Amino acid sequence: MSKSPVIAIDGPSGSGKGTIATRVAEKLGYSLLDSGALYRVLGIACHLKDIDLTDTAAVANLAKNLDIEFGRSGEGSVWLDGKDVSLVIRTDLGSDMASRVAAIGPAREALFERQLAFRKPPGLVADGRDMGTTVFPDAQLKIFLTASAQERAERRYKQLIGKGIDAILPALLRDLKERDRRDSERAISPLKPAEDAIVIDTTDLTIEQVVGQVLEHYVPA
Ligand code: C5P
Repeated sequence: MSKSPVIAIDGPSGSGKGTIATRVAEKLGYSLLDSGALYRVLGIACHLKDIDLTDTAAVANLAKNLDIEFGRSGEGSVWLDGKDVSLVIRTDLGSDMASRVAAIGPAREALFERQLAFRKPPGLVADGRDMGTTVFPDAQLKIFLTASAQERAERRYKQLIGKGIDAILPALLRDLKERDRRDSERAISPLKPAEDAIVIDTTDLTIEQVVGQVLEHYVPA
């Protein structure tokens, strides 16, 4: 039996991956994998359980046994051990812990199988950093979204202010560059476009324009 189709959407924080992946999945009636949420939940779980990140075996063991449940596609709800962690994983602590655990090879391996399990009919839109390079190298379509660091920090700033959360733009820009550096320089599954990825710079594009471009490139089998 042939495998269900996958559209891989990768890129750095703030490139619009999450929003674009959600819209594309809705339009096609496909399921959605927010792989970043898995790293975020693992990071927060390490924090809550006071796990020392230098103990990579303990982090991997936790990753293997994490009790994670996702809400309906696009809803963004996530539960850890039956508790709603949807908000805490999106905090700066959640972002920071995610990029730290994401640099741990055995933790990535432990999350690998979980990600494959999201592939089911009629298809999957997978959003992350290494969907096209490592997790779904046979994806039908690979998209890599970029945007300038300044634009990405401004998007995050507006998002936080919109939610009534205080934010300082220069601090956001600094943190975002630090996470970019960590994600791009790590030895295992670094953030980079797959060789056969289509790169779209979203700096001056609207969400609808990006969704339109992704769908234009998609030719279902
Ligand atoms: O996409 P999001 O910002 O939620 O991802 C949070 C962090 O998880 C990223 O900064 C990155 O370190 C890590 N990540 C990863 N591989 C993925 C998805 C996320 O390393 N496929």
